Amino acid sequence: MRLKKLSRDFALEASGVDLARPLSDAAFREIEEAFFAGQVLVFRGQKLTAREFLEFARRFGPPEPHVVDQFHHPEYADILILSNVVRDGKPAGLADAGTYFHTDYSYLEMPARATLLHSIQVPRAGGDTLFANQYSAYDDLPGATKKRLQGLIGLHHYGNRDDLEETSRTAASQLTEEQKARLRWVRHPVARAIPSRAARRSTPSPAARSASRACPSARRARCSTSSSATPRSRSTGSACRTASATW
Ligand SMILES: [Fe+2]
Repeated sequence: MRLKKLSRDFALEASGVDLARPLSDAAFREIEEAFFAGQVLVFRGQKLTAREFLEFARRFGPPEPHVVDQFHHPEYADILILSNVVRDGKPAGLADAGTYFHTDYSYLEMPARATLLHSIQVPRAGGDTLFANQYSAYDDLPGATKKRLQGLIGLHHYGNRDDLEETSRTAASQLTEEQKARLRWVRHPVARAIPSRAARRSTPSPAARSASRACPSARRARCSTSSSATPRSRSTGSACRTASATW
């Protein structure tokens, strides 16, 4: 496997790997190390069935099905379909899957350890997924601010940051009463230590305008597939989230 830097201080592109083929433990360890080193790891041109995608996701930990179950993959509930495509008046997937910065599954007790996104159809422009490096965000803070963050707790919920209005334009997809009953507000430290890296990262709260995908401290993985028909809208794809243990 070869790695190439995609930006100054994080995000790597891996080549020379076919994720559709079984990976040895050593080969997966190399991928996992590259993921935690880069926080974002990109594999281009992969051809994966839903099952192959899920099998790869499972290497990171047990997948956690998304609460919005109406957009689960028909065969694999661990995969969430993201899409702005509408067929016969019905949405093909979750259209509002990230119009704002967020940490995946921060609204659960155990946020995602990793998110896997497999893009199937993307628009020529406007379908970008943006990532922010939370290690750098924390490292760049003045010492006094780091001190002030110690012990602070953020409240997290499913939705759009501090916007509690369900009908507002940017609110995440509305939940049914049954889905709401499965969720409650959870508390997370605003900055948390990552033992394996001896480093701290900040956990963006619903009110924060920053994003991060990789949380090595949590043990779940999230999978989505995505594809977009039009620019400026979400993609249609699948995502999966994996869990293993707590620290
Ligand atoms: Fe997300």
